[in-house]
Amino acid sequence: MATGIATRRSVAALLLHPAAKPVLFVLALLPFAWLFYGAFTNQLGANPAEYLIRATGDWTLRFLCITLAVTPLRMITGTPALARFRRMLGLFVYFYVVLHLLSYSWFDMGFDVADIAKDIAKRPFILVGFSGFLLLTPLAATSFNRAVKAMGARRWQALHKLVYVIAGLALLHFFWMRAGKNNFAEVFVYAGIIAVLLGWRLVQYAKKKRAVPAATGAGTLSRR
Ligand code: HEM
Repeated sequence: MATGIATRRSVAALLLHPAAKPVLFVLALLPFAWLFYGAFTNQLGANPAEYLIRATGDWTLRFLCITLAVTPLRMITGTPALARFRRMLGLFVYFYVVLHLLSYSWFDMGFDVADIAKDIAKRPFILVGFSGFLLLTPLAATSFNRAVKAMGARRWQALHKLVYVIAGLALLHFFWMRAGKNNFAEVFVYAGIIAVLLGWRLVQYAKKKRAVPAATGAGTLSRR
């Protein structure tokens, strides 16, 4: 028991250390640095353009899962300090999706806006991915303290529930893309992770709903 408390305290001290955020920032940039280095040293295989589009898509999905994992981890482990990293992780989802969109626009489409618009309309999996990108944009734009203040906490929270829709779109995009190749193994891994993370939230929501009438009932009884 005492060791548990001591461990939790030292983890909290580490997470609250002034260097914790810069360290996470550097770690989150490592995939980008690796891709950049690989591209310049010709180490991305026979089709570097495809490699870059896919790797940036993978990292978008990974950071989405990591961001969605912060709240469950924080509550299950009783580590409130984890909350300080959620915004940065969320912004890294946007950073990698912008890189993904730029790689596609450059390598697949030669930055031809008319061609990109036609492709989005023609290929459903691209349309789904693009919708995910569009929905991520207001979340990234309102992730700063000033936006939270201007919107009010309730409206801000309601808007940020969009992340659940985005997770669904991301999975559908990935599933649809892999359907052409009949290769679903990784899609199912991510679907499992996201199902657990969203399922946990549903359980918390149901518990809260059940607790509220119980609390109201208790209040009524005690007043009687
Ligand atoms: C929430 C937003 C998005 C997420 C999470 C996402 C994620 C992914 C993932 C995981 C892959 C597959 C990588 C692999 O096979 O290992 C992928 C592929 C791809 N995505 Fe996205 N994506 C998103 C948005 C977009 C957008 C906005 C576009 C373009 C408009 C796009 C275009 C593509 C293309 C062209 C591929 C590769 C298809 C191929 O190689 O056949 N994605 N994406």
